[in-house]
Amino acid sequence: MTSADLLSQIRLHGVVPRHVAIIMDGNGRWARERMLPRPVGHRHGMKAVREVVEGALEVGLEALSLFAFSQENWQRPPGEVSALMSLLEEYIQAEADSLHEQGVRVQVLGDIDRLVPAARAAVDRVVAQTAGNAKLTLNLFISYGARAELTRAARLLAEDVAAGRIAADQVDEAAFASKLYTQGCPDPDLLIRTSGEQRISNFMLWQVAYAELFLSPVLWPDFSRSNLYEAILDFQQRDRRFGKVAV
Ligand code: FPP
Repeated sequence: MTSADLLSQIRLHGVVPRHVAIIMDGNGRWARERMLPRPVGHRHGMKAVREVVEGALEVGLEALSLFAFSQENWQRPPGEVSALMSLLEEYIQAEADSLHEQGVRVQVLGDIDRLVPAARAAVDRVVAQTAGNAKLTLNLFISYGARAELTRAARLLAEDVAAGRIAADQVDEAAFASKLYTQGCPDPDLLIRTSGEQRISNFMLWQVAYAELFLSPVLWPDFSRSNLYEAILDFQQRDRRFGKVAV
């Protein structure tokens, strides 16, 4: 089936997920299979990012979350880290205007104080440029780890309690969620991981509580719009009960 056919199928089913999150994995293996340096895999991964953003716009998702760089990724060889930083900057330079014109709001979530200055400046620019858009929220998780996000939320709440802004017994799920980077964004309905790995890898641990999982064998640089549509079609067959019984 072509991607247009898959899109028609999705529309026929009606209910589309509001929010899709993706653990983009397999750039390194993709490069190794071709005897190319790992950064070449990341560069091809950037093309797949373009594909899924366009697909998300076509489908009409509210939010698309992409795990682009984890806190653990800082421990990769310096050459690979700097290649990833440059790619991030390049992606933003190349795409910012088109994302803005298409109504995409870009958010960058994570410990962005650690970014190199040029990447940080690019991030700040695109976030400010697109802040007023509402068609699709594109969450780029960079220098991100879920445990660090949860610890930060606990610290922020503790500070609020210590300062008397809220009482300890007002700390409920909504108060906690309001301190996460994703505050205001619906939880992901669908979590996709590519490259055949079957782990969550410290990604959105709070937010994926009820997400449907879709594990794709495709290496990230080969992940296409059609692959995204197939995952959404699969999601549309699922019976989501949120811990309750079917009615
Ligand atoms: C995982 O593959 C992928 C990453 C660590 C980086 C993801 C980055 C991109 C897709 C490109 C830039 C992104 C943006 C948003 C511009 P891996 O290196 O862990 O692959 P492996 O498991 O096969 O080694």
